[in-house]
Amino acid sequence: MNIADSRTRAIQLSQEFPHPLGLVPTMGYLHAGHLALVKQAREECATVAASIFVNPTQFGPQEDYKSYPRDIERDLNLLQQEGVSWVFTPHSDDIYPPGFDTWVNVQALTQPLEGIHRPGHFLGVTTIVAKLFNIVRPDRAYFGEKDAQQLRVISKMVKDLDMAIEIVPVPIVREPDGLAMSSRNVNLNFEERNASTCLYKSLQLAQSLYVSGERNAQEIRSRVQRFILTEPLALIEYVSIADNETLEELDYIDRSALISLAVRFGDTRLIDNLTLKS
Ligand code: PAJ
Repeated sequence: MNIADSRTRAIQLSQEFPHPLGLVPTMGYLHAGHLALVKQAREECATVAASIFVNPTQFGPQEDYKSYPRDIERDLNLLQQEGVSWVFTPHSDDIYPPGFDTWVNVQALTQPLEGIHRPGHFLGVTTIVAKLFNIVRPDRAYFGEKDAQQLRVISKMVKDLDMAIEIVPVPIVREPDGLAMSSRNVNLNFEERNASTCLYKSLQLAQSLYVSGERNAQEIRSRVQRFILTEPLALIEYVSIADNETLEELDYIDRSALISLAVRFGDTRLIDNLTLKS
């Protein structure tokens, strides 16, 4: 379906189906994390729409756009079972026709963390999410806390651009051993999958240090890094302890803080995070 037809469908949906309309944007290859967003949207919204679009503009030239896992038939079945009324599955050529030349840029919040390691990533994310919002026109949109910086960046975009959409955060869904669910987990081999459990354990270590009274952020960062490095397959990109809202790094933890990390296991890059709580 091209964009004009999709808009017509969205307007129909808006008129025929009861409100509020909730949107769950995804890149597909759905897992229980995505389905938690859909379930929460179903509980809170009269009608739920989802989108599946592997957005090329949020992948760097060396990243895994081409090899990103895809299984559209399976995804559509899962979403139908969850009671989703409409799944928007646009083609890249329709979203980015020749001559496309407008980008949405959230500035300071996109600079640290993922912004350093994935230059241009958030420009692609904010632009596609703004387009999805304009096409589907939801009242609410659901985003996972798994992508903590993305959630903050989208909330900031909505606030700054006066978009009439409520952004709803959904807690991280984890495997029984603590690994945060991700479409990319299928790329881990057996050894890497075993090694990857060190991420959540390292976040729990940070949490227990915090509970025992440690407020020196560098001390916690170092302890977490040392813990992860006991796993030879892990290559750390960053371990951050930052202000939970602005994402500025902290020296001393005197306010709500987010510990977030990005670690590579072979070719697979994983991220995870946790809000420190006493
Ligand atoms: P994707 O990685 O497919 O994730 C879609 C949504 O599912 C995001 O809001 C993400 O935070 C959430 N999610 C993923 N794993 C989760 C987990 N284990 N627990 C809870 N929520 C989880 O994020 C994107 O796609 C894209 O950047 C997108 C927003 C669709 C724009 O292209």
